[in-house]
Amino acid sequence: MSETTSPTPERSFGFRTRALHAGGTPDAQHGARAVPIYQTTSFVFDDAADAANLFALQKYGNIYSRIGNPTVAAFEERIASLEGGIGAVATASGMSAEFITFAALVGAGDHVVASAQLYGGTVTQLDVTLRRFGVETTFVPSSEPEDYRVAFRPETKALYVEIIGNPSGEIADLEGLAAVAHEHGVPLVVDATLATPIWCGPSSTARTSSSTPRPSSSAGTAPPSAAWSSNPVASTGATASSPR
Ligand SMILES: Cc1ncc(COP(=O)(O)O)c(C=O)c1O
Repeated sequence: MSETTSPTPERSFGFRTRALHAGGTPDAQHGARAVPIYQTTSFVFDDAADAANLFALQKYGNIYSRIGNPTVAAFEERIASLEGGIGAVATASGMSAEFITFAALVGAGDHVVASAQLYGGTVTQLDVTLRRFGVETTFVPSSEPEDYRVAFRPETKALYVEIIGNPSGEIADLEGLAAVAHEHGVPLVVDATLATPIWCGPSSTARTSSSTPRPSSSAGTAPPSAAWSSNPVASTGATASSPR
């Protein structure tokens, strides 16, 4: 009688398990269960060809900690798993998470539609810093998606809100705002600082883009492993997708 080997079934882990373990694999050399802190700026290459492949993004691996570091990559994969995103980029502060998001989405001559109920530092970033760089923002003092719709201009490149406003506590109508943003072909960017993905998150319904300030440090992404990226709640990416 011939024996057949069935493939290992794909496991789907619950939120609490993923909160502890997503992105981490036991250390192959020493068996450490927790993700080690890799305190290194640089990583060695096997040879010149290996370095060339890494720099040409032909191969996944680490080059330099500002670009990618295994500890930060594990954190990013964990956040992506918990938020139901297709990936995550960690930054040293919430303000830098916002800045890299705006840097990716807008340039001189562009326009942002934002809630008027935002954290003070975000208002300053939009109203002072980005305005100095030639990016205009219209702040909408309302939670009605219709009021956001009328603030749109042809040069609007993003709609920005906080899922729970700080300090107002106002709850954003993400469903309605996502519809308005997508109607104009731009991403809805959600600052989810005051929320926890166990209760609510920008990617748990039809959202397109999210900045989640507060992560640890540095930058760099790793592709989420199949096991950890399976989030039954999520339907779209948290950081990377855009309707364009
Ligand atoms: C809603 C919100 N967004 C962004 C930030 C900025 O985060 P950070 O202080 O890490 O730069 C804060 C800080 O309290 C915040 O409450």
